[in-house]
Amino acid sequence: MSHRIKVDGLITSVPGQWKFDEEVAAHFDDHVRKSIPLYEELQSMVIEMSEWLITDGAVVYDIGSSTGETLHRLAEKHASKRDVRFLGIESSEAMVKSARAKCESEAVRFLHKDVMEVERFEGTDLVLSLYTFQFLALKYRSVLMKRIYDALAPGGALILAEKIQAESPRLEDMWMELHWDWKRRQGLTDEMILQKARSLRGVMFPLTLSRNFELLEAAGFSDTEVFLKWHNFAGIIAFKRRADDGSPDRAAKTVRRISTSRGRGAQKG
Ligand SMILES: C[S@@+](CC[C@H](N)C(=O)[O-])C[C@H]1O[C@@H](n2cnc3c(N)ncnc32)[C@H](O)[C@@H]1O
Repeated sequence: MSHRIKVDGLITSVPGQWKFDEEVAAHFDDHVRKSIPLYEELQSMVIEMSEWLITDGAVVYDIGSSTGETLHRLAEKHASKRDVRFLGIESSEAMVKSARAKCESEAVRFLHKDVMEVERFEGTDLVLSLYTFQFLALKYRSVLMKRIYDALAPGGALILAEKIQAESPRLEDMWMELHWDWKRRQGLTDEMILQKARSLRGVMFPLTLSRNFELLEAAGFSDTEVFLKWHNFAGIIAFKRRADDGSPDRAAKTVRRISTSRGRGAQKG
């Protein structure tokens, strides 16, 4: 039997075998806050942005809903709206159990499924994937991105949060060490930090920001923005254009025109 090693107070794992099992589910809400910088801020920003994105009758998906933290907060925030439905998709049974215990709202359902088994999503207005794409094998990511895009209503959005790799190898080392320094400040020991990194080998595959943008654009998304960034973590929002949004080309030309006229103004002044 493989030797389990501590990666946090009550969580153990084996190198290359990180799993969202019962032990992790039981302590996830605490562990995630010691593992992901600005986790609380990102959750709050998602809830804030949802005021523009969730209206009566909306369908919202959360892919990799874990203990239901995000959907629980969203359901409370939008409780007074009519016919809004929240669907969590989660491959870990332990996580689904924990989410169902936390969130009793009738508007929320947690489906115990591998997201890749969902070949067609229901028509949706908002899809969240917070720190989940990074656990999917690369060959599946573009397939899933396209399925999400196809299911979104025009004007709908995907909110993606990911651990990212730096574009420059020099920054990659700096960011990894800064992340480890941050984890130490959360009370994790050097040994735990190292064991967690070992347990994630071959399980988590972060991409660069530009590769994430390429995936989004290849699926059809054209309005994409980073709304939160901490060294090697980023939150991105991507919209599906509506017919009356104008073409992405026109938007780019407008930006070019504004910057050119600013440039001219500066020369005159
Ligand atoms: C880092 S956690 C997500 C945290 C959560 N979204 C939050 O913001 O608190 C990643 C979650 O994705 C789930 N997951 C990983 N691969 C999945 C897949 N193929 N289908 C569905 N869920 C998956 C894991 O079980 C885990 O609960």
